[in-house]
Amino acid sequence: MRRKLAAGNWKMNGTTAALEELDALQEVAEGAAEVLICPPSTLIAQAAVRSGKVAIGGQDCHSAASGAHTGDISALMLRDAGATHVILGHSERRADHGESDALVAYKALAAWDAGLTAIVCVGETLEQRESGKTLDVIGKQLAGSLPDDVTASNTVIAYEPVWAIGTGKVPTTDQIAEVHTFMRATLVQRFGNETATGIRLLYGGSVKATNATEIFAVVDVDGALVGGASLKASDFAPIVTAL
Ligand code: G3H
Repeated sequence: MRRKLAAGNWKMNGTTAALEELDALQEVAEGAAEVLICPPSTLIAQAAVRSGKVAIGGQDCHSAASGAHTGDISALMLRDAGATHVILGHSERRADHGESDALVAYKALAAWDAGLTAIVCVGETLEQRESGKTLDVIGKQLAGSLPDDVTASNTVIAYEPVWAIGTGKVPTTDQIAEVHTFMRATLVQRFGNETATGIRLLYGGSVKATNATEIFAVVDVDGALVGGASLKASDFAPIVTAL
């Protein structure tokens, strides 16, 4: 039985005052679902101290353990600051920083070495969807972004159609089901039934309290990676309780 996961990605939002939102999530984090917040790296250490039952994650890490990489942060640094998870290969990282599938896979290895769970993101652009390439794109991203030693505890996968992120546009439940079923089958083929059926598959892209229940009812959706609606506890808490 896969434990449901509600993950919030604050992206480049939030200063110290935003940590009050974590306090406000305590009650909802007592429930059956796992709740994770990924604040900007400047807030991770403070967030981890006061996060209670809410797990804390990073939004990216370098593929190297340490070294001359100005401005970057290592998986070990995230762990040391109190993070337990790290988002990798988000489409904004892939677009803004040219991250390739291979680099994402190296980052996943670094995350595992530091004891972090990697949340590996995949997703097609609108152009790719409209030209019928969605499953090809997702298959290629999964093949390239996941190292061989994936387990159900070291990896979570998030399907985030690029065109649904921050746009208010959400795929139909049939479209989400098609991709999630495909991802599960792809994972079974590569990692075997036992591992693949234990890996949690999140949906991300304009998830809100008003659509969460419908999305969470879709086959093979084990939770959500939420951007905008995770910034305020009053928006995020109903999504957690919908799981
Ligand atoms: O990581 C989160 C996703 O990019 C979704 O963002 O909920 O603002 O659409 P959004």
